[in-house]
Amino acid sequence: MNDIVIHGTYFSSINRDEVITCEGYLICVDQTGTISRTIAPCEDDFNTVLQEAKQSDRLVELKDNQYILPGFIDLHIHAPQWPQAGLALDLPLADWLNHYTFPLEAKYQDLEYAKMVYKDLIHELLSQGTTTALMFGTIHTEANLVLARQSAAAGLRAYIGQVVMDNPEQTPEFYRNKSTQEALEANEEFILAMQELAKQTQSTLVPVITPRFVPSCTDETLAGLAKQAKQYDLPIQSHLSESDWEHNYAIERFGLHDTEVMEKFGLLTDKSVMAHGTQLTDSDLATLHHKQTAIAHCPISNSYFGNAVLPTKKILRQGNKIGLGSDISGGYSPSLYYNIRQAVKSSQMLEDGVDSAQPAQSRGVKSSRITMANAFYLATLAGAEALHLKAGKIAPGYQADLQIVNAHPALMNLSQDDIFQRLMYQTERSDIAQVYVG
Ligand code: GUN
Ligand code: FE
Repeated sequence: MNDIVIHGTYFSSINRDEVITCEGYLICVDQTGTISRTIAPCEDDFNTVLQEAKQSDRLVELKDNQYILPGFIDLHIHAPQWPQAGLALDLPLADWLNHYTFPLEAKYQDLEYAKMVYKDLIHELLSQGTTTALMFGTIHTEANLVLARQSAAAGLRAYIGQVVMDNPEQTPEFYRNKSTQEALEANEEFILAMQELAKQTQSTLVPVITPRFVPSCTDETLAGLAKQAKQYDLPIQSHLSESDWEHNYAIERFGLHDTEVMEKFGLLTDKSVMAHGTQLTDSDLATLHHKQTAIAHCPISNSYFGNAVLPTKKILRQGNKIGLGSDISGGYSPSLYYNIRQAVKSSQMLEDGVDSAQPAQSRGVKSSRITMANAFYLATLAGAEALHLKAGKIAPGYQADLQIVNAHPALMNLSQDDIFQRLMYQTERSDIAQVYVG
């Protein structure tokens, strides 16, 4: 039995290069919130299913200027940093962390503050078409559970990490775990509470092992977190070779690349998602590929802190796992549309190069530009695959995580591909008419 039937035209990635257009289809959603069937207008029972849904008041009929897309998967976002989105992005990463980010995150000891911010952020994400988010919280267990409860109440699929940071050399006293033992015990408490909450609310709420990044963690803590990930079979998230500074820090402390450090401690698994990676070498990428670890590409954030452009095209070609993240607040926008646009723009700048004093022939990195279809894939199907979540695609068996968007008026004849491109470039929050999660 269908719970609802949506009638309209949709766009969906079927692989990294191809987006299909299905015109005037029916999307049947069952009572568990899963897409049970998609029906083309030419199929025998199209009219019967349409009429039945209409008569039982279960039909959602799209207007002529409306289109259906899968909900977006934000693969890297710092929930507590929402109040400072767009602040101090002209500072280098380490200064931005010490002078803005750590003092802000320390405030989440105050649960009233957490409730206020997290409610606003979750509403914002859903309104921007994001239906799943892989989030960093703070070091505070209670505030992280506020984020979880509010996500479940609003319907956002939430993968949430309790941030762990205990290295006194790289973290301020006012915002640091007191010891490895304290950090691991609090983390275990968080994991168990999240699992209980997921059961109670019947929601997608997943605890994520979250060493902030190599500089902020002691060796014992990195090892202990890997052990917890294994014990509870959990996803892992962190930052990886995000900037020259971060990349060189690992070399100075361990004589190894960030990737090799993560590997050494057992933090690279097929459930790991590592943000940024702008300084990754070919051998680092080969390691991530071998481990089936995903990269969360955060192109807006990388423009400020990355010190380089991630070679997204090469990474896709090599078959590494990769999705898209907003990195609020290293990135200023919670909209994955904005990040999709920036991913395409940054890749073109990588291909062309940016210094006109250099000869055109050697200015850029050849064959670096990605297509809009590539970027859309990162924000949908690829992100879901990194989380082992059956979502991000409009097809039977996938979660009915959907957004209905209003296209801007077309003043000329447009092909379906043109319409898709314009939707990607022009959609604003106010154009998103409806968002469904399951
Ligand atoms: N590296 C360590 N912490 C952070 C953070 O909060 N944001 C970004 N962009 N990079 C980090
Ligand atoms: Fe980040």
